[in-house]
Amino acid sequence: MTVNSRKKIKRGVYPGTFDPITNGHIDLIKRSLVLFEEVIVAIAPSPHKHPLFDVNERLEMIRDSVATLKCVDVEVFDGLLVDYVRKKKAASVIRGLRAVSDFEYELQMALMNRKLDPRIETVFLMPSEEYSYLTSSIIKAVSGHGGDVRDLVPPVVWKSLQKRFQKT
Ligand code: COA
Repeated sequence: MTVNSRKKIKRGVYPGTFDPITNGHIDLIKRSLVLFEEVIVAIAPSPHKHPLFDVNERLEMIRDSVATLKCVDVEVFDGLLVDYVRKKKAASVIRGLRAVSDFEYELQMALMNRKLDPRIETVFLMPSEEYSYLTSSIIKAVSGHGGDVRDLVPPVVWKSLQKRFQKT
């Protein structure tokens, strides 16, 4: 592998379903800004996951949640992730590794993406341990039963969850 330090493109793509975005995702976005000049949060529609929020709702919630962060863009993408990364002229895919249980699936995805485009690297970052148990599903499950998750999600998400589950 040849490394050309003068030709680095410092744009990373952080893909996910983000149904909804959590403080764990935000933590990862902030960490990625240490390494990348620009980060694109790329929302996959993921209809197979039967999302609670449609892509436009997810887009609005993420935009609101990262409004104070410089150099973060939020977009929806469809199709293959590597095609999108190439289109955006990004160098890397950013993913979080929360626990050993994430590793196998993430390795599989990273290697498949490398097979599809060997020029695109996947960079793994560790979220803060206080969020290491979080998933969007667990947030929805707890919230759906009236649990208080306000410390675990951005304010706009907390409001949307309350509205969706009719809590006041
Ligand atoms: N904090 C909180 N939660 C986190 C987290 C963090 N730091 N990191 C991950 N999670 C959660 C996610 O919210 C998600 O929760 P959920 O399953 O309850 O929704 C879960 O951990 C990870 O789910 P996963 O299925 O691994 O990822 P995803 O749905 O967020 O994103 C894509 C997967 C979109 C990146 C992938 O499907 C993709 O690339 N799709 C495009 C099509 C493609 O190219 N496919 C081939 C890939 S090889």
